[in-house]
Amino acid sequence: MSHVEVTDVSVRYSRGAAAVHGASLSVARGECVVVLGANGAGKTSLVRSICGFLPHENVQVSGQVSVGGTSIGRLDPARRARRGIAYIPERDKIFRELNVSENLEIFAQRRRSKAGLADDRELAFDVFPALTKLPAGRPAGFLSGGEQQMLAISGAIISSPDVLLVDEPSLGLAPIIVLEMMSALGRIMAERELALLLVDQNVRSTQHLAHHVYTMDSGVLRLETGPNVHERLIREGYSKAVAS
Ligand SMILES: Nc1ncnc2c1ncn2[C@@H]1O[C@H](COP(=O)(O)OP(=O)(O)O)[C@@H](O)[C@H]1O
Ligand SMILES: [Mg+2]
Repeated sequence: MSHVEVTDVSVRYSRGAAAVHGASLSVARGECVVVLGANGAGKTSLVRSICGFLPHENVQVSGQVSVGGTSIGRLDPARRARRGIAYIPERDKIFRELNVSENLEIFAQRRRSKAGLADDRELAFDVFPALTKLPAGRPAGFLSGGEQQMLAISGAIISSPDVLLVDEPSLGLAPIIVLEMMSALGRIMAERELALLLVDQNVRSTQHLAHHVYTMDSGVLRLETGPNVHERLIREGYSKAVAS
């Protein structure tokens, strides 16, 4: 059974048309679902309807979101986090003023249980050995984009979610770094049986990880099926945003 179920979700901000229009998708544990779409397609609004980070006012959300069979659509973000949902946003994914270990300490506080913390720390440092080589006292805001993404993914491991939502993990990173991030995400998905939902602009970054691919255009989500899905989407222009 799918762990995350999004059913007929719409998100409408007070000014403008619906940012998400009747979207439905599901993600099982140990599975990666990718949503591809251009700027403004509604990707961020969609992931935020799952983790709950939408403005209190000036937004209308309808439809159902459930995790592990329980409806969570009316819970605030903190309560959703306690249901095992972690979210790595596009920007502001780490605490810029705090150093690496202080950042990781905050992610550790988000755990639902202290049990297993040592194992998760070990996995985080095993996935990203470079983490231990970063200057200990330096505020994370001074790290490179790739290092910040690495810290955010490590933080996610240490917060021990069942569901991980990642908003544009390839944004602004060199292709080699993107590969490293994707293989890290693939590894933690498999080892911790995460339900992994990635939204991105670029099919090339995510194609090796995706079990299912959706495209999103003007708030409308569409499951892409058939042979050679990724090659077809590349031809259809879903690779334009590739960093060069
Ligand atoms: N807080 C907001 N208030 C009003 N409109 C918004 C807000 N956030 C996003 N939008 C609009 O909703 C649409 C979808 O945006 P977004 O979900 O950020 O798409 P994407 O992540 O695919 O770029 C866009 O037209 C955007 O301008
Ligand atoms: Mg976005």
